[in-house]
Amino acid sequence: MTKLEPPLAMLMELTHRCPLKCPYCSNPLALDRARDELDTATWKRVISEAASLGVLQVHFSGGEPMVRNDLPDLVRHARAEGLYTNLITSAVLLNASRMAVLAEAGLDHVQISFQGAEQKIADHVAGFRDAHAKKLAAVRRVREAGLALTLNAVMHRQNLRQLTEMIGLAVEVGAQRIEIAHVQYYGWALKNRAALIPTRAQLAEATAIVEAARTRLAGKLTIDYVVPDYYASRPKACMGGWARRFFNITPSGKMLPCHAAESLTHLIFERVTERGVADIWASSPAFEAYRGTAWMAPPCQGCARAEIDWGGCRCQALALAGDAAATDPACGLSPHHEAMVALAEAESAAGIEEFAYRMIS
Ligand code: SF4
Ligand code: FES
Repeated sequence: MTKLEPPLAMLMELTHRCPLKCPYCSNPLALDRARDELDTATWKRVISEAASLGVLQVHFSGGEPMVRNDLPDLVRHARAEGLYTNLITSAVLLNASRMAVLAEAGLDHVQISFQGAEQKIADHVAGFRDAHAKKLAAVRRVREAGLALTLNAVMHRQNLRQLTEMIGLAVEVGAQRIEIAHVQYYGWALKNRAALIPTRAQLAEATAIVEAARTRLAGKLTIDYVVPDYYASRPKACMGGWARRFFNITPSGKMLPCHAAESLTHLIFERVTERGVADIWASSPAFEAYRGTAWMAPPCQGCARAEIDWGGCRCQALALAGDAAATDPACGLSPHHEAMVALAEAESAAGIEEFAYRMIS
């Protein structure tokens, strides 16, 4: 057995509350309520325990992390523990005074999601009037505060036509990086897949736009590109492999190997209120379940890519193959691959436009 390395990063989902209602949200359909969220002291303890374990980066996420008034306090504490701090936000609450407080607290980096390149589609997808205008104001505040900025462009069939403009927007506002991420179908996004999944032709066009922009903007803008698994021939190494580099804490304190892991209802995810972060990382049965390669069956077992993609995504394997220990159907060697591709082709051609907005029921 290979030695267990410490995780690199921790994603803290401070809350599931969010003023936006994006239909592609990767949060689970059953969202945690405000009354169940961890308190400030517990989050601080979790940050300290993560730092002791070897974590280098902490991502403050949600929901919308800015609905928590203790966010600056948590950022300050993470910096005091020597961690690199990243805020993943919709930015609609990032006004001038809150930007100043977060910068003073030592925030290193801000990642702001955009739902489109112009107001009409962006506000429609976000389900929030004036969201786009507020985001544009916020990106300028981040740059004026001197913080590193990444734009997160979440792309799908209904906004892909604006991809060139999205890249232009990142250049215009002075972002260092844009992450162009096709929707990944977990949580709410899985529920809305038929309204969002691109056609194969759209994907090919988008990929060509990204490649041309990478050449044109080399040295000026870093472009990360996440393609939809449904048209891939090999899966991505989801989270860098189950419980290898990363973990996630839900608003109510469950520690997960990936943000969608609660869909694996046969596993019990332990809470940081009941056991220490380092203990859960090292020996929780849920973390051990798919760590490494010993759990794999053919075709992953013995495959030359087993320690490259780690068999792909467990959540997708369960959702589409009905078995979390199966080869990710995104892999062309999976017996479920052809059905996955056929599903993507049929849904993307069906012309469904309506989606369900994300809501706490
Ligand atoms: Fe990856 Fe498994 Fe496919 Fe091999 S068979 S490429 S390990 S998903
Ligand atoms: Fe859970 Fe990929 S999202 S393993």
